[in-house]
Amino acid sequence: MYNEIDLDKIDIVTEPPTEEPARQYYFMAKCREWVREFERKNGRRPFAFTQTFGCQMNARDSEKLMGILRKTGFQEIGDEKADFVLYNTCTVRENANQKVYGRLGYLNTLKKKNPHMMIALCGCMMQEPEVVEKIRKSYRFVDIVFGTHNIFQLAELMVRRLEERNMVVSVWKGTDQIVEELPVERKFPFKSGVNIMFGCNNFCSYCIVPYVRGRERSRNPEDILAEIRKLVSEGVVEVMLLGQNVNSYGKTLDTPVTFAQLLRQVEKIEGLKRIRFMTSHPKDLSEELIRVMRDSEKICRHLHLPLQSGSSRILKAMNRRYTKEQYLDLVDKIRAAVPDISLTTDIIVGFPGETEEDFEETMDVVRRVEFDSAFTFLYSRRTGTPAAVMEEQVPEETMKNRFDRLLSEVQQISARVCARDLHTTRDVLVESLDDHLEGYVTGRLSNNTIVHFPGDASLIGTIVPVYLEESRGFYYMGTAG
Ligand code: 5AD
Ligand code: SF4
Repeated sequence: MYNEIDLDKIDIVTEPPTEEPARQYYFMAKCREWVREFERKNGRRPFAFTQTFGCQMNARDSEKLMGILRKTGFQEIGDEKADFVLYNTCTVRENANQKVYGRLGYLNTLKKKNPHMMIALCGCMMQEPEVVEKIRKSYRFVDIVFGTHNIFQLAELMVRRLEERNMVVSVWKGTDQIVEELPVERKFPFKSGVNIMFGCNNFCSYCIVPYVRGRERSRNPEDILAEIRKLVSEGVVEVMLLGQNVNSYGKTLDTPVTFAQLLRQVEKIEGLKRIRFMTSHPKDLSEELIRVMRDSEKICRHLHLPLQSGSSRILKAMNRRYTKEQYLDLVDKIRAAVPDISLTTDIIVGFPGETEEDFEETMDVVRRVEFDSAFTFLYSRRTGTPAAVMEEQVPEETMKNRFDRLLSEVQQISARVCARDLHTTRDVLVESLDDHLEGYVTGRLSNNTIVHFPGDASLIGTIVPVYLEESRGFYYMGTAG
């Protein structure tokens, strides 16, 4: 396995190999030389800090980036006072971009005190040419800029930066390449994200993701299953299968496979206890998938099913390719098959042209479905998307007013429905010590609800039956047994 490769055995005097991932191990070995040199001069290993913005896909990418840094000898620390700082950015809404620019100002002051500091930016924001232009012009202290398609090249780009002494910018427009077998540094020993596909072909009219993450590419089922088996052998009991639209998994493979078929295979892996996935597009959620969920022992009783809007007229303008009625029918079918399922969603308020009536349709769906929770977003205008040039952009004040009304409705419903398992005993996967209460641990039910109960660190990573004694809105207090 490449993962176990000893960097010291790699010949870094010859030319780098052209094939992947051997090429990246060569550059990791070169970085390791630099790290050793640093250690000799400073009496310690260099510190690395990574900050992730955005979604689960980015979180998983950051684990891969950290894996490369660890392999080369960097030591992870918890803040920016590091020798290498990496921001993995998100651009789905404008405020995500603003946050990064704000933080860059702070990094500039740190770098003035520590000129050897290396600053790298990657992720979705870097796929936008205007952003890269702005960084080249106004943030010249940044060392490395790369995008979402070549995160596997981190070591190569670091070596280039050390050799060239200029800002290194390497942003690919797209790729067909999926490089396997690179080191990964997992945040949790007992659960892990697993990419099953990259990119998105849906082009919802408000969304920038298809432009920054590129076309849909599925990983081979054998590679996915091998990765999960390896994770399980390392102690992982829960996996989250990741993709922008997992329901269209496998369509573009040489031998097409459905997402439901993949799930059936994953289910068979011995030692794996829980399977989650994210995100589902309602238009592609098949009856076959509902059956697989119904019959499964391991697939969690939770489905994240982004609604975006409850108005069929707005859904059409959003290019979501389902109507309000189709969404509600789908929810009925899922609930008929899996009655105790928890449904969560994403909703955008203030899409161009949204009227009070359209908004009321959204409220209507929220009341009818009774989501366990909903991520609510103010519509954000993203340059380059069809919605950005639509007339009738909704005034900010109207948008905010609707947002507050929606949030309050969502919260009231959620406090009520989250209590559905009160006074029953359910399995909890313990994730950490409780942040607030001494002598308590925190875990999750299959349906993703949080539970706190008395326990100690030895329980972390295990599944414990817990009696749910009290519901406090979004979480439970319980007792083991
Ligand atoms: N404005 C507001 N929210 C957006 N999302 C995606 N694009 C935008 C946008 N331009 C939301 C959607 C998606 C979630 C990840 O982010 O609800 O499901
Ligand atoms: Fe964006 Fe739509 Fe693709 Fe989700 S499915 S990433 S909202 S374009």
